[in-house]
Amino acid sequence: MRFSTDRPVSWQSCLACGNEQLETDASPRCRACGGLLEVRHRGPALRTGELRDRFTDRRGGPRGPAGSSGVWRFREMVMPSAQRIVSHPEGNTPLLHRPALDRFAGIADVQFKHEGHNPTGSFKDRGMTVGVTQAVRIGATAVACASTGNTAASLASYAAQAALPALVVVPAGNVAMGKLAQSLAYGARTLLVRGDFDDCLRLVEEASERLGVYLLNSVNPFRIEGQKTIVLELLQQLAWDPPDWIVLPAGNLGNLSAFGKALREARAWGLISRVPRLVGVQAEGAAPFARSFAEDFRVRHAVKAETVATAIRIGAPASWERAVAAIRETNGIVLAVSDDRILAAKAAIDASGIGCEPASAASLAGVKRLVEDGAMLPGERVVAVLTGHLLKDPGILLDYHRDRRPAPHGANPPIEIEPDVREIARVLGR
Ligand code: F0G
Repeated sequence: MRFSTDRPVSWQSCLACGNEQLETDASPRCRACGGLLEVRHRGPALRTGELRDRFTDRRGGPRGPAGSSGVWRFREMVMPSAQRIVSHPEGNTPLLHRPALDRFAGIADVQFKHEGHNPTGSFKDRGMTVGVTQAVRIGATAVACASTGNTAASLASYAAQAALPALVVVPAGNVAMGKLAQSLAYGARTLLVRGDFDDCLRLVEEASERLGVYLLNSVNPFRIEGQKTIVLELLQQLAWDPPDWIVLPAGNLGNLSAFGKALREARAWGLISRVPRLVGVQAEGAAPFARSFAEDFRVRHAVKAETVATAIRIGAPASWERAVAAIRETNGIVLAVSDDRILAAKAAIDASGIGCEPASAASLAGVKRLVEDGAMLPGERVVAVLTGHLLKDPGILLDYHRDRRPAPHGANPPIEIEPDVREIARVLGR
């Protein structure tokens, strides 16, 4: 169907066939063709500038989610008609700058939007507050997702808050320790599948259809609405003066899609007058989208994925069409970097005192690569998104600093001693 006159405040629209569905339709995909849906908003009756002022006034202002959450502050652009909001709160993440990381990247101004500062330690909370709010609104009796770990941890937490049973489906042996531990602790029913993420996603899509469980992967368009606020919030932090580039790791491509939509709407609604270029960075062993970009997106590739950055170990990304639009509309770039480059960037971010999980460091590795290639100029302003917290993947850290033989460059092993002050003197070389 298509709405004729009198559109509601928000509705869902299929990117493939143009079919339109009510905002409260529970199907995570288009009912006509199975394509990806997008949420559309009629737009507020405000003059340019008024919307910015409203977002600014709310910051730390009124009680309730609009004042406390870095997602619901932007509610006009996220879910204007939301009533019973399930919020931790989330968002309000810092924009960080460290000269050592400028030097690492070879550029004068790289700032880091650190999404690891969200309540469960990743950007997923921004999509999940909206996704679970929607689940409650449509009367879902259970929620589910496939995940490389972070989505699972976030869903588990928000479902617990909403008192909804949660099912998370993850690849056995390939989820970082911190993430798996979170899912268990928050009480999600956790299934370890003997397969990879792509198998998990196929499985959970089928299960949600057959068993009537509400699917909260990023194919769900409400997740995308929440994740848009990473961009809205960073633009607000920069006083709506956009950077030249926004760089992020890319796996299932939900976040890249969200960033593209945020920029499209921010310009259409008069928040910014210039659109930054988006850069999606994949790991070389999991780079179907980078390969396709190099061929002008003529072919949709799928690969058997392998990388140390388990969060983005994805071979057949789901949000493909939305992400192609994001790259095309922003004159963006997609590239792949090696695991060695990801780990070198992570070591630099960790040693700067900021810290992040492996997949997050792909963004800095991507910046360094583009500077080396001359695609990014030393005078340009860059925001790199760090998607997850250092403690998500302690296993990789202990392996690097404590266990690996011979000790790798920059390893900082712990030293066991007797309870004797002379031992400390010895360690300090006195
Ligand atoms: N960074 C981290 C830390 C992630 O957890 C993910 C995705 C990405 C980047 C990539 O984002 O998929 O939107 O392109 N993690 C998903 C999960 C797949 O299940 O937690 P994307």
